Amino acid sequence: MAARLIDGKAAAAALRARVGGLAAMFEAATGRRAGLATVLVGEDPASSVYIRSKRSATGEAGMESIHHALPADTSEAEVLALVETLNADPAIDGILVQLPLPSHIDAARVIDTIDPDKDVDGFHVVNAGRLAVGDPAALVPCTPLGCLHLLRAELGKLTGYHAVVIGRSNIVGKPMASLLLGESCTVTITHSHTRDLPEICRSADILVAAVGRPEMVKTDWIKPGATVIDVGINRVPGAEPGKTRLVGDVAFAEAAEVAGAITPVPGGVGPMTIAMLLRNTLVAAHRRAG
Ligand code: GUN
Repeated sequence: MAARLIDGKAAAAALRARVGGLAAMFEAATGRRAGLATVLVGEDPASSVYIRSKRSATGEAGMESIHHALPADTSEAEVLALVETLNADPAIDGILVQLPLPSHIDAARVIDTIDPDKDVDGFHVVNAGRLAVGDPAALVPCTPLGCLHLLRAELGKLTGYHAVVIGRSNIVGKPMASLLLGESCTVTITHSHTRDLPEICRSADILVAAVGRPEMVKTDWIKPGATVIDVGINRVPGAEPGKTRLVGDVAFAEAAEVAGAITPVPGGVGPMTIAMLLRNTLVAAHRRAG
């Protein structure tokens, strides 16, 4: 393996410690803890695991975690009413409605009912717009923000690099592209209909893979020395029958022979997402405290 390993676990631990220190200062200055409300509708096992991790990280950082667990048959009107209540609650700085929501609930309507200044996921259309126009008031989606943090730590200034983003989701691909443009990268967004994808990727100084296709990015897609950020978390059959393992969107072992630096899966981008959620909650709390 020639590539440097980008240690997202260590970077996330450092960030969480820093946010914890700032959260203590916030409490000392305002007499209250920053508060993150989480909302989970139904009992999707993966969502339950995510929520547990987010709640325990929030507590560890010295912030209040207020959780609302609603049954799967909760109506859209009831979810919207809860969001309105949380919007009006002065003790709540951040609101996170875990996705996916059951199919009878319009997720976009729920997200766009959250007060944009409490939208710590950065999914509200107002925050998407703020990010697109470079407004610093934007709350930015946590996963691309985590990727940017790792890239800055690895490369310093990003000005002039050609960044290729694979994936155009509202949660990762599009905000990632906006952030990289904000850093004065030359940005190419690619997706499942892109022609000559390997060739475009081969011209990338920075390659961000966020497509959700296990080990799609091969060694000959990577420019020698490039920095590779793998956002994918895919569960595939393991070596032993009945066992599974996690892989990214990048064929890690072969890509690491060519790349200059690369994130592993797990232990790369994943831990950064929760760290950035804590950061966004504290940013929202500070802004609300004026
Ligand atoms: N489901 C999977 N990832 C996320 C996330 O980052 N935020 C929310 N709200 N739901 C998710």
